Amino acid sequence: MNLYIETFGCQMNDRDSEIMVQLLEQEGYLLTTELQEADVVIVNTCSIRGKAEQKAYSLLGSLRRLKESRPSLSIVATGCVAQQEGEGMLARMPHVDLVVGPQAIYQLPQLINDIKTTGQSLAATSQRQDFCIPPFLPDLKHGQGHKRFVTIMQGCNNFCTYCIVPFTRGREVSRSKADIISEARHLIAQGVKEITLLGQNVNSYGTGLATPTTFAELLREVAALPGLERLRFTTSNPKDLSPALMACFSDLTNLCHHFHLPLQSGSDQVLGRMNRRYSRGDYLSLVAGLKDSCPDIALTTDIIVGFPGEEDDDFQATMELMEQVRFHAAFSFKYSSRPPARACDFPAKVSEEVKKERLAIFQARQKEITLARNQEYVGQELELMVEGESRAGQGQWSGRSSHNIIVNFHSPVTYSPGDMVQVRVNEGLQNSLRGELL
Ligand code: 5AD
Ligand code: SF4
Repeated sequence: MNLYIETFGCQMNDRDSEIMVQLLEQEGYLLTTELQEADVVIVNTCSIRGKAEQKAYSLLGSLRRLKESRPSLSIVATGCVAQQEGEGMLARMPHVDLVVGPQAIYQLPQLINDIKTTGQSLAATSQRQDFCIPPFLPDLKHGQGHKRFVTIMQGCNNFCTYCIVPFTRGREVSRSKADIISEARHLIAQGVKEITLLGQNVNSYGTGLATPTTFAELLREVAALPGLERLRFTTSNPKDLSPALMACFSDLTNLCHHFHLPLQSGSDQVLGRMNRRYSRGDYLSLVAGLKDSCPDIALTTDIIVGFPGEEDDDFQATMELMEQVRFHAAFSFKYSSRPPARACDFPAKVSEEVKKERLAIFQARQKEITLARNQEYVGQELELMVEGESRAGQGQWSGRSSHNIIVNFHSPVTYSPGDMVQVRVNEGLQNSLRGELL
């Protein structure tokens, strides 16, 4: 039996796809990159913005023909659109056989078995309040061998008014610390050098566990595992960024000097209506605190433009804040209405034209700041983790700095991904640096 999988969306979805592939391989499935050869097709969907959802529907829609020509093919929709639509997806797309929400992926082999034996389609999208992420030891058969993600929690309780995640991923659930540590140990024993702890809101890790733990405590325990060269985490809500977490940056030598801290807007009015529960002043204090603990920390962020009611001066407040912080990079998006998120009913929708204009202004300025930030590294010595040979080939190598910036360098030596090298930076470009090997 051949399995084809297509993944949209965030790293949580990437990780879920890895888990599904591993579970099915244990049942004898072979992963294929040829859709035409597949016996089972999984589309792991994302619904964060309207466009992501359209992409998922368009791929699922295009599978109808394939199903007609091969009725034995099983079509499985997973991820956030699947969770949101449930049975509705089966009604809308009768050629889909199985709809599986993020909590049910661990039962995937059984669920596929059920639809194959009964011939009936099925939606497994009920969300349980007492859901626990089962212990799971990953294999390294696919993807990169030197760096891996470890899920520490999933779901979200924040209900930012633009966001669909609390509806698709359900309430926040933290994994037990013992499960996380054993997964991390297992990865390190297999040669993994860098681990990224993953969750929708990692800073509130530990609430609801039998033995209450904070994220900072977890980070310290993972950082102490012998053999772990680098540790990262994503994503954080500024409202939960504790002084204890900031302190980790001065104490833990393998914690990378990069913090992704989504701002969303620089206007207090807009932040209030987004239900973010911090002000621009709070955000700036956090930035100052992080720089105190780690002077060379690289900050990246997420921005939404055109949230309902965003006036010109609100947008200007975002532009001013970006000048103050000078983010190393930013992901920026036009607001997208995502029912049943509350902002869908907010008045004063911003026109598509204005959203487009604001996004272009923001992105053009961020591009300049990113380049200037990259040029600040010129003359500095950086330690890199080698990613592999660069696209240019012929002794050209590519590595990543602790700040999460790609640095290309020349070397006659042959490296393996995960090796550490020292370089001096001699050029800062738009998307990368150039360095010379020391
Ligand atoms: N519209 C636009 N962007 C959104 N994001 C989340 N929800 C929406 C939405 N409805 C962005 C936020 C978040 C990132 C993952 O996606 O900036 O941090
Ligand atoms: Fe998309 Fe959010 Fe779901 Fe990730 S959690 S797949 S970003 S909707």
